[in-house]
Amino acid sequence: MGQLDPAALLQWGVPLLRDLPWRHTRDPWSVLVSEVMLQQTQASRVLPKWFVFLHAYPTATACAAAPLGDVLRLWQGLGYPRRARNLHATAVAIHERGSFPDSFDELLALPGVGQYTARAVLTFALEHDVAVVDTNIARIFARVAGRRLTPKQVQAAADEALVHGQSWAWNQCMMDLGAALCRPRLPRCAECPLHQRCAWRGNAGPDPAVGSAGVSTPQARFEGSDRQARGRLMKALSHGPVANADVARIMQRDEVTAARLVTGLDGERLIVEDQSVLSLPT
Ligand code: ADE
Repeated sequence: MGQLDPAALLQWGVPLLRDLPWRHTRDPWSVLVSEVMLQQTQASRVLPKWFVFLHAYPTATACAAAPLGDVLRLWQGLGYPRRARNLHATAVAIHERGSFPDSFDELLALPGVGQYTARAVLTFALEHDVAVVDTNIARIFARVAGRRLTPKQVQAAADEALVHGQSWAWNQCMMDLGAALCRPRLPRCAECPLHQRCAWRGNAGPDPAVGSAGVSTPQARFEGSDRQARGRLMKALSHGPVANADVARIMQRDEVTAARLVTGLDGERLIVEDQSVLSLPT
């Protein structure tokens, strides 16, 4: 497997690090909120929401004290509202335990916190020596190796490459490398600090990142999707209750589809239904 050149990556990346506000804090709650928001949403759309959210809920305790409906209202526009529900449940769990968890296993036990998010909090807030693997980073490792990797292999490669004592900068630089140069399409290999060590280099056969562990496929079309219809209802509910009879019109879907989506949202506890009127949970 190809080996990264740690010095080259840090030399390239540190001076170019994107100036993102969550990179200026080491507060674990603020970092957790950024990571949850960034999971399925572009940084440019996360930016304003992150400030508004943390202004409303500067601590996990503040978020825990709020009704879930208020948290969902603040989440409007970010999509994937399950993330907001999990974040709220996580805030409650942190408040109840009395301190922010600072070990991998304790973080992993929080609702909606997976391997990636647990490691991201450890490195970006607590500066522990752990390597994160998001979709950008998984793509880099597959290309450097020149072959598809399993989940274990990509995490092992990341663990091995990590520069101890500099995990914060290392992980941020890897993310920026994936965003700026080692992009899904049209990678800028000629400028890449890892060019010498890379097995693929943009042209050694088909892209080994395609189908490799942790590398996401492009998001499904939004227009016409269930996600769009659900989003329309969640937006309407953020302004106030909605009669069941109005749901299909609001979703711009037929009655059967609308009923199916309402059942789904209800099952996910993102809405509540009382006497044929829907509202956000309290
Ligand atoms: N995506 C997830 N975490 C990120 C971070 N810390 N900086 C930029 N993009 C990210």
